[in-house]
Amino acid sequence: MVQKSLIIVKPDALQRNLLGEIVSRFERKGLKIAGMKMMAIDDVMIESHYEHHVDKPFFEGLKKYMQSSPVVVMAVEGYEAIDAIRLIVGPTKGREADAGSIRGDFAMSVQYNIVHASDSAENAEAEVARFFKDDELFDYRKVDFDYIYGEDER
Ligand code: RTP
Ligand code: MG
Repeated sequence: MVQKSLIIVKPDALQRNLLGEIVSRFERKGLKIAGMKMMAIDDVMIESHYEHHVDKPFFEGLKKYMQSSPVVVMAVEGYEAIDAIRLIVGPTKGREADAGSIRGDFAMSVQYNIVHASDSAENAEAEVARFFKDDELFDYRKVDFDYIYGEDER
């Protein structure tokens, strides 16, 4: 199934000049960027995006971090893309992430972990809808498509 995952390139990645590197990793994998923009995350947005964390002791710190600079959000698309992207990103704690993953290569922290990626089909759908209007998402054909997937995966 073709899926879209919501990626947030977090403030630490922008400050550390990693935006291009991160976009490049998704591109090189064969994923398609269906939407991309820079934005500031306001209180309403952060409280709904991290709704499951609002009562945790680290939430105020998480909110401050996520609002400390603009972020870049992307809707990244591909066949079974949500799980594939979680593998590219790595587990939450950077210092436990495998080398080769984004967090494994660029993060030491739990909180300052470079990117967000949707963790399930249900959450991905809600997150993409939260961050992108319909006319900010693009359905277009990529010319490398025929060489990225086998016929039964297209
Ligand atoms: P994300 O949602 O950002 O992709 O990260 P995740 O699924 O790997 O981790 P999650 O449990 O959803 O946590 C969301 C973000 O909250 C921060 N965090 N800080 N200080 C802490 O113990 C702590 N735990 C989580 C991280 O920035 C994490 O990515
Ligand atoms: Mg999460």
